[in-house]
Amino acid sequence: METVVSGIRSTGKLHLGNYFGALKNFARMQNENKCFFFIADYHSLTTHPDPKLLHSNVRNVLVEYLAAGIDPEISTVYIQSDVQEVCELYLLLNMHAYLGELSKTVSFKEKARKHKDNVNAGLLTYPTLMAADILMHNANKVPVGKDQEQHLEMTRKFARRFNNMYGVEYFKEPVAYNFGQDLIKIPGLDGSGKMGKSEGNCIYLDEDPKSIEKKVKRALTDEGPKVPNSEKPDYIENLFTILRVVSTDEVVQHFDDKWNTCEIRYGDLKKQLAEDIIKVTAPMRERILEIQNDDAYLHRVATEGAAKARENASRILKDVREIMGFKKF
Ligand code: TYM
Repeated sequence: METVVSGIRSTGKLHLGNYFGALKNFARMQNENKCFFFIADYHSLTTHPDPKLLHSNVRNVLVEYLAAGIDPEISTVYIQSDVQEVCELYLLLNMHAYLGELSKTVSFKEKARKHKDNVNAGLLTYPTLMAADILMHNANKVPVGKDQEQHLEMTRKFARRFNNMYGVEYFKEPVAYNFGQDLIKIPGLDGSGKMGKSEGNCIYLDEDPKSIEKKVKRALTDEGPKVPNSEKPDYIENLFTILRVVSTDEVVQHFDDKWNTCEIRYGDLKKQLAEDIIKVTAPMRERILEIQNDDAYLHRVATEGAAKARENASRILKDVREIMGFKKF
């Protein structure tokens, strides 16, 4: 059985990008593998250090993980900061992570550009903490969206480097868990690149149907294609990208054909898109409402998850310490 680690930062509510990037196929994922799903609250401190919001953000992600279908009886669900073994592995991996490679990471450069007043060391070493999350369970598969591809590549590099340095075959080199498909990037509905919390262009898993319809209706379109089989501009391609993940192949084919023959009616496309997004999110929304105030359940899941994750992580950390030469007196 293979080991899967999936992480989501606790910076707010989950959106369609998180769902299709990291959680889709969870049923197959958790039935076929040993799965760890965690909430990356330490990571959230690199950009969102707010004591008033930290706990409620963690809680949101916990509720939404469960509402998305993660079963804590089958998988381990935990909060990153409950498993402090990750801090030690992060420290150890940082000894073999170089300034040159860390400062060249695309996400670091982007964040450093956006938040010039807060270019902290946590931001720089974000990929080492992420590698620690994954290697702490010696995982070989990680479900992630396209935006995390480089971080995963760095995790492999750190694993390889550790093995080479200490002359062992200890860490596996984890790959993306995507059933052989390309990594996905869910775009925003505003014609811009990716759907993201900081971009403010999200459809959330707990969004009510009326609001979904409104957001989809507002998506940027134009007067339609004039030449048959023409290329779609980005903002139209974005609508099709979302359609491809929420609708059936027949529906996608139908609108593709209409585009190609210049007969597309964006009103129809948007109506269908909203309907199908609602179909995907409605059961999660219901479940969110059901469990969000169930303190006892959430407490039990987080406590049991932390214990299971710590048990696994401490075993691996013990090996790592031994390999590196730490000895007890
Ligand atoms: P985060 O919290 O930004 O996003 C969580 C997951 O959602 C995916 N995602 C998307 N996928 C497709 N299209 C989008 N628009 C989109 N937006 C978000 C992300 O790719 C990610 O899979 N560094 C991670 C958290 C993390 C982690 C880990 C993940 C920390 N340690 C260990 C896996 C393993 C992050 O910031 O994700």
